[in-house]
Amino acid sequence: MKFRKKTIRDIDVVGKNVLVRVDYNVPMKDGEVVEDMRISASLPTLNYLLAQGCRKLILISHLGRPKGGVVNEYSLAPVAQRLAKLLANKDVRFCSETTGEVVREAVADTPNGGVLMLENLRFSPEEEANSEQYADEIIAATGAEVFVQDGFAVIHRAHASTDAIARKLPAVAGFLVEDEVSKLEEATNDPEHPVLVMIGGAKVEDKQPLIEKFLPIADMIAVGGKIAADGYANENPKVYVAEDFSLDENGTKLDIGPRSIARMDDMIRKAKTIIWNGVMGLVEDSRFAYGSQMVATAMGHSTGLTIVGGGDTAGFVEGLLRDPNHSSLKFSLVSTGGGASLELLCGKKLPGLEVLLDA
Ligand code: 3PG
Repeated sequence: MKFRKKTIRDIDVVGKNVLVRVDYNVPMKDGEVVEDMRISASLPTLNYLLAQGCRKLILISHLGRPKGGVVNEYSLAPVAQRLAKLLANKDVRFCSETTGEVVREAVADTPNGGVLMLENLRFSPEEEANSEQYADEIIAATGAEVFVQDGFAVIHRAHASTDAIARKLPAVAGFLVEDEVSKLEEATNDPEHPVLVMIGGAKVEDKQPLIEKFLPIADMIAVGGKIAADGYANENPKVYVAEDFSLDENGTKLDIGPRSIARMDDMIRKAKTIIWNGVMGLVEDSRFAYGSQMVATAMGHSTGLTIVGGGDTAGFVEGLLRDPNHSSLKFSLVSTGGGASLELLCGKKLPGLEVLLDA
């Protein structure tokens, strides 16, 4: 499906300082990056901009929810180190501020063709307040002439770094945003039938809008996970709710059972477009990850458009793909965005996308 916004292919970046909003809100433990899917996913955009001859790349991101104050465990310094490893032949630096003289000097010190990552935007309350002044200060300190939005996972937020800044500079999408939005919009607006939507997870209130949105579009909807275990019911004949479960020693339903897995496998084989959002069981406990594994395996063998929508589900599939026994599975998109992919699939307008220049 044609992408409706301008991208980094449509602008001239030669000799310019380019400000890139990435989403490096990655899982951390003891000051180390645990999983770097979101960092790797941004590399095609960063490498392209550098190859085009931009002057300096300045990266901005949030990490966690520090609520407008400095919280050391949410510093992006270790993330910049991981980025430096992934961009091994580039000069990657980190600056402990997001505005002011310290940033000005760090930008000046960064060599042409280098990358400078700024500290966590959410250490400043102005970020989530979508402050015009904060946006102006970031632009002034970095000398940015172009803005690139490549933080797909955060484009459902109207914050200074996704909205205010994008209204002050020529603002285009990076490759990650282009790829994710195009595939998610194709699945929603122009899908090849039969369309199957598979829903799992724990919170029915989060998933009900997705079910409502896809009832007129999908040919089949399958519901598993805690939602089904908790007794989700839907009279619509398109909707199949898991019929059996694996239980723990107390009789708690913690995964879908063999009959449900077989039914879902059959639906996956028939479908040409498959969207999966929400794991089928308590995947943190390997005894109850089997249903999700079977669904992922069937989906990973499908030749249709296969979309894994964000959050826990994407994390589960990424983990599976790292296992050599499953690394041959193929998906059209394993989304880096949880809330963002869900909102886009539900047909909501995403502020950080809408604000970009139209194609
Ligand atoms: C995410 O992890 O979903 C994004 O980074 C957005 O984070 P947020 O929900 O804290 O805004």
